[in-house]
Amino acid sequence: MIAIRGATTISADTPEDIRGAVKELLIEIKSANGLEIENIVCIMLSNTADITSFYPAKAAREAGFGGCPLFSSLEPTIEGALKLCIRVMILAELDKKPVPVYLRGAANLRRDITKKLVIALDGPAGSGKSTAAKNLARELNILYLDTGAMYRACALECVNRGIDLSDESAVKAVMDDIDLKIEYSGGRQITVLGGKDVSEEIRRPEISGLASKVSAYGCVRRKMVEMQRRIAAMMSCVMDGRDIGTNVLPNTEHKFYVTASVEVRAKRRYDEDRAKGYDVSYENIVKEIRERDKRDSEREIAPLRCAEDAVVVDTSSMTPEEAVGFIKNKIQEKI
Ligand code: DC
Repeated sequence: MIAIRGATTISADTPEDIRGAVKELLIEIKSANGLEIENIVCIMLSNTADITSFYPAKAAREAGFGGCPLFSSLEPTIEGALKLCIRVMILAELDKKPVPVYLRGAANLRRDITKKLVIALDGPAGSGKSTAAKNLARELNILYLDTGAMYRACALECVNRGIDLSDESAVKAVMDDIDLKIEYSGGRQITVLGGKDVSEEIRRPEISGLASKVSAYGCVRRKMVEMQRRIAAMMSCVMDGRDIGTNVLPNTEHKFYVTASVEVRAKRRYDEDRAKGYDVSYENIVKEIRERDKRDSEREIAPLRCAEDAVVVDTSSMTPEEAVGFIKNKIQEKI
């Protein structure tokens, strides 16, 4: 007999969320362990005290596991513990090593027994990759690293120091003592330059072109790639950029190339910039996107290109939710 552990989280204390999460967890455990219902000796579920609207055991019954003895209990309330969490222990008549399953917000709960998940998302500006990466990271409860923000911060630092961006040696001198930190607050990435939060400032439209210019320099890329690899070595993350699958993390098994037509991308950027109050024209954005694509994909070092083993996600006619759903399914197929 073996004991299989697992856990998941729900986003809200509603019967629908509990049903969905319990069903997903039990089905995932079943498939990861090659379990049949008749192998199951019993299923023990527990939930945190903030789950009050529905019994996880009832959800398990409704998901088709009613034939197995079910037991449900309440977790002690512990300060700082994961919220809205459902844990499970399945005893089964099997003669193999159990595969634990930790889903959603619980994915990081047992890093010692679950595999680290490193997901690379590359693609051109406006393809929807940042939105997809952010949402994916939130759903999987893992870190999101926007590497474009790092190149933007490098460009901003050069601008602040009055450096001529075409002078590579001057840019290199800036790189030698740039004080750049990536921090997280409330699940949001904060870009800190010289101790100051520049997360908003680096989004200024003129920084986009300058970031593309500095990112072509080897001295800039070496420093940024080293920081990115250090982060990925430490924890599960979704990293988005231009060269993540091809250069930063070539060995990760989860690689996506997110793209969309130039017109769709320009319209998205136009709407975003307008909403932020920037006075931009659609035609200029199309021109700027074409120029940036050309520069990013034709540069000598680590150009923007689709890794051979990446899955292409064309978001031209997908909603943001559809794009994340598509990527999540592809990841699930491999784990
Ligand atoms: O994704 P973004 O628009 O914030 O990126 C800003 C610039 O940085 C973009 O023109 C290309 C560059 N970049 C890069 O060269 N490599 C990355 N991994 C991420 C961004």
